[in-house]
Amino acid sequence: MSRKVRADVDLKAIRHNYSLACGQAPQAQAAAIVKANGYGHGAVQVAKTLEAEVPAFGVACIEEAIQLREAGITKPIMLLEGCFDADELSLVDSENFWPAVHSEHQLQALEQAELRNRFPVFLKIDSGMHRLGFQPAEVAAVVSRLQALSCVSEVILMTHFARSDEPAEAATQHQLEAFASVVGVEGLAACLSNSAAVMAWPQAHRNWVRPGMMLYGATPFMEPNPVADQLQAAMTLSTEVIALRDVAPGESVGYGGTFVCERPTRIATIAMGYGDGYPRHAKNGTPVVINGQRAAVAGRVSMDMMTIDVTDLDRVEIGDRVELFGKQLSVAEVAVWCDTIPYTMVTCLTPRVPRYYS
Ligand SMILES: Cc1ncc(COP(=O)(O)O)c(C=O)c1O
Repeated sequence: MSRKVRADVDLKAIRHNYSLACGQAPQAQAAAIVKANGYGHGAVQVAKTLEAEVPAFGVACIEEAIQLREAGITKPIMLLEGCFDADELSLVDSENFWPAVHSEHQLQALEQAELRNRFPVFLKIDSGMHRLGFQPAEVAAVVSRLQALSCVSEVILMTHFARSDEPAEAATQHQLEAFASVVGVEGLAACLSNSAAVMAWPQAHRNWVRPGMMLYGATPFMEPNPVADQLQAAMTLSTEVIALRDVAPGESVGYGGTFVCERPTRIATIAMGYGDGYPRHAKNGTPVVINGQRAAVAGRVSMDMMTIDVTDLDRVEIGDRVELFGKQLSVAEVAVWCDTIPYTMVTCLTPRVPRYYS
């Protein structure tokens, strides 16, 4: 391989992070969320790594669930947004996919389908995020309709938090209260928590939790969190220095001339760009690590290359390895420099970046 861009995925770290999630919510069953290609880490490899331990996986759509089945994954797979089309229900039935039901049209499709098997249904409640789900006042009637269906083995109440990554905000408490206001559902299991709620909202753990980002070792919080501090980064994105030059004060570097050298500046060009999924809007100063030392992005990210100010580094040579994020530099820190969140940093990596597993 000539171009040295790579994402190394540490599967042991994913196992460690899954155990950490389970340890936070020991009474709950933890479905491992592997949508969006396992947050860019490779859904099949992640699912194979966790399959012995997890009760179920969670994905966004049936195509992602089918990919796991085709790879030999046999555990139940939650469809977090349910079926987009009624004709998906025959696969739900035959493949042991567990659908969410968030709307009247999904409910009607289930009522009209002729299915042979029984499976749990996750009834999505809009407790305040206002993205998907039935209103709390509608839920009792929906539960009755679902329980009347021979294909429904169990109704599990589900909701999703908009701001559980902000522990000081009242919004999650309000959502918990809205969820608790649902009447006529005594005895039903509940599934509320994403990663942030697993780590910061124990009162939301209930029967099932749905950790995603934390499995991959990135914190969803902006502030330090004692549990998130124990996560291990699963992905290390790296490349190599492909060119070096000295640039005089007053000269600019890269497209648009957004970095102007204020001193004699040593610039390393590295093989990584937005064509690999690295954010184009990374600011000047965004950290990278070269030979264990931090250096900073200098100039706009181009499609295939980036330029790094290595003036203060001991010695940099062509072929030196450059970590964009991973074991030495947290993806969360880099995300802040790119005006984004760790979720986009990992899910937006393109197929041009080969993943290597250990
Ligand atoms: C419905 C649902 N549950 C769980 C998750 C996992 O969230 P996180 O990655 O923050 O743990 C997501 C992710 O967006 C989601 O949409």
